[in-house]
Amino acid sequence: MSKETYIYTTSEEDLKAAAKVLSEGGLVAFPTETVYGLGADAFDPGAAKKAYAAKGRPSDNPLIVHIAKFGDLKRLTAVFDDEKEKRMQRLAEKLSEAFWPGPLTMIFPKRDEVPYETTGGLGTVAVRMPASDATLKLIEYSGTLLAGPSANISGRPSPTSWLHVRYDLDGKIDGIIAGDPCEGGIESTVLDLRTMTVLRPGLITPEMISAVTGEEVTYDKALFEKPSEDPDYHPMAPGQKYRHYAPKAEMRIVPEEKLEARVSEERAKGKKVGFIKKPDAKSFFAKLREFDAQGMDIIFVVPLPEGDSLSFSVMNRVLKSAGYNIEK
Ligand code: TXA
Ligand code: MG
Repeated sequence: MSKETYIYTTSEEDLKAAAKVLSEGGLVAFPTETVYGLGADAFDPGAAKKAYAAKGRPSDNPLIVHIAKFGDLKRLTAVFDDEKEKRMQRLAEKLSEAFWPGPLTMIFPKRDEVPYETTGGLGTVAVRMPASDATLKLIEYSGTLLAGPSANISGRPSPTSWLHVRYDLDGKIDGIIAGDPCEGGIESTVLDLRTMTVLRPGLITPEMISAVTGEEVTYDKALFEKPSEDPDYHPMAPGQKYRHYAPKAEMRIVPEEKLEARVSEERAKGKKVGFIKKPDAKSFFAKLREFDAQGMDIIFVVPLPEGDSLSFSVMNRVLKSAGYNIEK
């Protein structure tokens, strides 16, 4: 069913109007510093279901809840009473002080009020405070908290401008807040506080988290493997098992010294070829969408050298969007 998707500015009047739509169970996409999110009332199971439907996303893939101030956390997570939970709270306080608003998502035990539709059936809830003044106001004005998966059709590159959101979701959602393009360009780091494990790498690195907490931080080992297609595969971050970020073109990762030869070879076959020599967080997803608009048949990407955590985060997106298609 098609509906009119209203484009809101970031004026006070428009943010209030958009907040009202959200408080009534509607869907409005919002800007953040990472990628655009598809806002839905986190306490309304019907709104969460609509967000999954609009994206075409499997409903066992949990959503991140966006808050506007640290105090909002109490509305989502159970009271901290035992020692283990108190330790989590101390870590959360330090990390939120250092990185919120910003691209860090932390996982907590959920309160009963948070519906399983929002958490993809899990007993935990993922939370972050986005660094966008417009979106922080939107959350405040809505009177609720906002679930916000990336505002793209499931499987496509994440949207880093409101135009990408409109391209994917026009006619499927109630509105889009036309804010600035995203500065970060890749989604937030997802951290499991119980084990201090990074489930999804992002711009906040394990070293940065360690420096603030004094704790050892590791990567989930699923990040080093090609995701299994086995239906019984249940990684810690359920999102990891799905094909992600894919452009329409075929995508291949090639060593730098082979790039020129491969580009010429494919062009000689009459193919339209795009390439990225040095993928970076801010422009990678936008570049894939640009190549799609140009009707490229094949995209080559040169991998970043190993060893650096920010490069690791970018390469996580490159590998997924290329479907682990690596040429030697
Ligand atoms: O930067 C971001 O995080 C963006 C912006 C809009 O805030 N949002 C985003 O949401 O990337 P989404 O839904 O596309 O990705 C959510 C990720 C998935 O990989 C999901 O599996 C993981 O977070 N996640 C959410 N809740 C979780 C939980 N309770 N336990 C483990 N992983 C969780
Ligand atoms: Mg996403």
